Amino acid sequence: MDRTAQLTIPPEQFGTAYDPPPSGTSPHVRAARVLDANWTGASTVPSLSLYPHQWSWDSAFIAIGLRHLSPLRAQTELETLLAAQWADGRVPHIVFNPSVPLDAYFPSPDFWRSATAGRAAGAPRTVQTSGIVQPPVHALAAWLVHRADPGLSRSRGFLARMYPRLAAWHRYLLHRRDLGGGGLVSVVHPWEQGMDNSPCWDAPLARIAPAPAGSFRRADLDHGAPEDRPTDLDYGRYVRLAAAYRDAGYADGTGGAGGFAVEDPAFNALLIASEHALARIAEELGAAGTARHARAGRLTTALVRRLWDPEAGMFLCRDLRGAGLIRERAVTGLVPLLLPDLPRDVAAALVHTLEGPHFSLGDRTRLAPSYDLLGEAFDPHRYWRGPAWFNTNWLLERGLRAQGERERADALREAFLDLADATGFAEYADPYTGEACGATGFGWTAALALDLHHESHDSPGRGPSPAGTGASGTRDKGGDRT
Ligand code: SER
Repeated sequence: MDRTAQLTIPPEQFGTAYDPPPSGTSPHVRAARVLDANWTGASTVPSLSLYPHQWSWDSAFIAIGLRHLSPLRAQTELETLLAAQWADGRVPHIVFNPSVPLDAYFPSPDFWRSATAGRAAGAPRTVQTSGIVQPPVHALAAWLVHRADPGLSRSRGFLARMYPRLAAWHRYLLHRRDLGGGGLVSVVHPWEQGMDNSPCWDAPLARIAPAPAGSFRRADLDHGAPEDRPTDLDYGRYVRLAAAYRDAGYADGTGGAGGFAVEDPAFNALLIASEHALARIAEELGAAGTARHARAGRLTTALVRRLWDPEAGMFLCRDLRGAGLIRERAVTGLVPLLLPDLPRDVAAALVHTLEGPHFSLGDRTRLAPSYDLLGEAFDPHRYWRGPAWFNTNWLLERGLRAQGERERADALREAFLDLADATGFAEYADPYTGEACGATGFGWTAALALDLHHESHDSPGRGPSPAGTGASGTRDKGGDRT
């Protein structure tokens, strides 16, 4: 696809700050305007200033909101991302836009060198990408996008074209990334899990020698406040790990080329929700979904066996190169609430933990923080070390609904909608004060606000399914929120 020809954002627009719309518009229109401003003609940037390319899990969340504005754009968003899939099945975490200057974002295409360093792994030749991945929200997004306009989807063969790519993506994760041999998928870089500087990574990252400070130049500090962003030491380690993976040809043989290999609860829970969604997609295409639902069930069993910690009352991350379970409480460990097949005592403990002193949802916080309020490393402004993020709260909202906790889910939805709009659709917010942090005009915040807005207006009595997939085992049978 010629992305340059389709570009609707003039190149000088990249790097600019969010321009809030005039007062008098509705929150719905304000959210839609963010998505319009960030639309390039083939995909949506997370932020015109901080993240001027296409990001993998951002695009999945963005498609979930876009389906309410334009099912065609939502389908295109996912199609553009999956057109950059590697032959080994991996979906890269960034698809670079060739019209954006190289110095607008670091690490740029000349760092990743996908077409050359990734040749053996099957990187595409016509588009430049990163070589790592992000959480697999895509099959879930594809299913929800299809459900928004099944007629358009069928007439365009949307699911028939997506299915083999999504199946190859899951196959890559299940076959090449089970580095612990226990049936779960591992990430080999904090950027893969998506919560870059979570205190969960402090111990595994402490073993990584940082790349020298002068060997790279960060672009994020041109646009973001340093106190909201990861530190230079974090970046030194991110660069070291990414370069080691690249220099090993992005091969997963022994895994964790740079020495980082972690099993993460949210990454695996999203794979499970997406595997259920892929089963629904197979059924829609006239094939059997039973084997996929069964695989999702086995993954759920493995998730509980390997990452559940009864004492913490939540899931923890497992450091495969270190001492096993990482004893830090972060929002990743609550995301499995999405899975309706969780043992009942596990689901009940998660709700209890969400409302207890470490996250204090509905008491001291209106949106769940990204990290333990009582943790030593807690920082209310610094990226994933405390601020409340909108995508994780959207997942928790669905999770509460999946567990039949309708009133709690309604309260979280209301808080989400208030804060998304009040912060100018911020990337994240101080969990105590609601103050905007990071970028504003942020793609997934606007998209997921649109989604919750539509859900509250379209189907007040609906219940849920594993993240809206309608798979069997759902506790609350109130409907299918697709
Ligand atoms: N989140 C990373 C960044 O801040 C990359 O995925 O650039």
